Amino acid sequence: MRIFVTGGTGLVGRRLLPVLRQDGHELLVLSRQISPTLPEGCRAIQGDPTIAGLWLTELGTCDAVVNLAGENVFARRWRKRFKQQLLDSRVDSTRHIAEALAKDPKRSDGSPRIMISASAVGYYGPREREEIDEETPPGNDFLASICVAWEQAARPACEAGVRVAHLRIGMVLDDQGGGLQKLVTPFRWYIGGPVGSGEQWMSWIHVADLVGLIRFALGNPDARGPINATAPEPLTNWGFCKTLGLVMRRP
Ligand SMILES: NC(=O)c1ccc[n+]([C@@H]2O[C@H](COP(=O)([O-])OP(=O)(O)OC[C@H]3O[C@@H](n4cnc5c(N)ncnc54)[C@H](OP(=O)(O)O)[C@@H]3O)[C@@H](O)[C@H]2O)c1
Repeated sequence: MRIFVTGGTGLVGRRLLPVLRQDGHELLVLSRQISPTLPEGCRAIQGDPTIAGLWLTELGTCDAVVNLAGENVFARRWRKRFKQQLLDSRVDSTRHIAEALAKDPKRSDGSPRIMISASAVGYYGPREREEIDEETPPGNDFLASICVAWEQAARPACEAGVRVAHLRIGMVLDDQGGGLQKLVTPFRWYIGGPVGSGEQWMSWIHVADLVGLIRFALGNPDARGPINATAPEPLTNWGFCKTLGLVMRRP
């Protein structure tokens, strides 16, 4: 397939692109950077997904879109302006993609075009231990409201018949970056441990499993709507730190 990827320079994208290349897909990667570092065989498209531009013409030639763009939630303190950026970088990007796909929702063979779009388990808001599935209603904190708006922004594509899947992603574990790398440093110096009471629940997923899920969603005609992208069992922050301490041989 010819696949258009946004956010391909990020934690997940860096792992995903080589795997999709190995699968034989042609990849067009949108980035705001002038010369992003991409795996061999990927074509960089310069542009900002939050601003409609020439990149939408390239998107129009693709069978599928993997939409991973979004300001990193850990990049800065959550002041009003940054919170707006967190929202706009997700909602505006997704809306532009969805509107472009809606104009021509079918591939050349008549099958629907595909949009695999990131969302987050933050959709459900903070919760006590309880069973959660994709039918569970959204929470009502700031992150939940972002996720709701993020998923709703894809509606034009859904309504036009594009196959849209929203991956509600948990904390992505990768030893090369992201939240785990930040946690590892204090553990290395023997000062790692749970935060606060340690009772907070954490839904997580290994980056290799997330890449596998994106491949599955691209190739499976039944993959549509919300899909929880997490390991089946969440951990408390305390349980997570205990395991991390064991793995790193730290108390
Ligand atoms: N990592 C996690 O634990 C986690 C958990 C839940 C959900 N997610 C979601 O999954 C997606 C991928 O995660 P990730 O960890 O790979 O993200 P990431 O490393 O933060 O990278 C996301 C990419 O989005 C683009 N981007 C950043 N700020 C932007 C802005 N203001 N406007 C437009 N584009 C912007 C950047 O690409 P360019 O610089 O090349 O333009 C960046 O490489 C994100 O949407 C994230 O919210 C991640």
